[in-house]
Amino acid sequence: MIVTKSIAAARRQVGRWRKQGFSVGLIPTMGALHNGHRALIRRSRRLCDRTVVSIFVNPTQFAPGEDYRKYPRAWREDLTICRAEKIDLAFAPVGRTIYPTGFQTSVHVGPLADLWEGAARPGHFDGVATVVLKLFNIVGPDVAIFGQKDFQQAVIIRRLIADFNLPIRLVVVSTVRERDGLALSSRNVYLDPASRADATAIFRALKWARTRVRRRDAKAAVLRARMKAEIEAAGRFKVDYIGFCNPETLEPRCRLETPLVILVATVCRAKGAAFGRRYIDNVLIGV
Ligand code: PAF
Repeated sequence: MIVTKSIAAARRQVGRWRKQGFSVGLIPTMGALHNGHRALIRRSRRLCDRTVVSIFVNPTQFAPGEDYRKYPRAWREDLTICRAEKIDLAFAPVGRTIYPTGFQTSVHVGPLADLWEGAARPGHFDGVATVVLKLFNIVGPDVAIFGQKDFQQAVIIRRLIADFNLPIRLVVVSTVRERDGLALSSRNVYLDPASRADATAIFRALKWARTRVRRRDAKAAVLRARMKAEIEAAGRFKVDYIGFCNPETLEPRCRLETPLVILVATVCRAKGAAFGRRYIDNVLIGV
């Protein structure tokens, strides 16, 4: 496994592989790797001859006051996982490399970024799209692999690829969950034991709603109210939004026809380690 912080070195290495006729998969990450990332890596290794993992906590996707500084960083453990998963190149640039002095050109995402997470975190998806476009430009992958957990992010990256005519295939891998259903996330380390236990209500509520949608026996307002009650019952999580949407446009669906994605965002209210942090999840129905 090659580890580099340098754009030139990453490009040189990918260039060598290209000359040898190898296909390249890229998994953009912010580190603090977990089994969800392992699933993305494994998918890349099945699809491509060479796999690149980028590790970069991207400052431009955090608003002032969000957890950029405290975002979990686990460099050694990340490299251990990358080695164990037999990736070929870990690209871990520093801030100045990605955002050189004088940096002033960004991607602005259109109305897709005004919905849901974008409404709660203005500017977030511009930061994501900018860094992902840079990583695509540096690595030049054939395939880019993202997780379904960040559903809106994946939809926006699909749009970015189409809008910039990038010759990249996007692959979205199903969310990996703990045994009790909690979606794996780098931010789960912030949860104290009581909040960790309560967090399982998020997927419980989603599963319950999915069953009702499949049976076609409920209205969005009814489902939303029950889900909210379930998630907020113990008092440690507050629902920010529950959306029943078209999985391509993310526009809310009036009638619960499939294909449908149910998006949930919550904020942890437990005093202490997890206070104020967002936990999102979703289920996709009929795709
Ligand atoms: O999903 C993430 O970890 C980040 O948003 C990404 C795609 C690596 C961009 O910084």
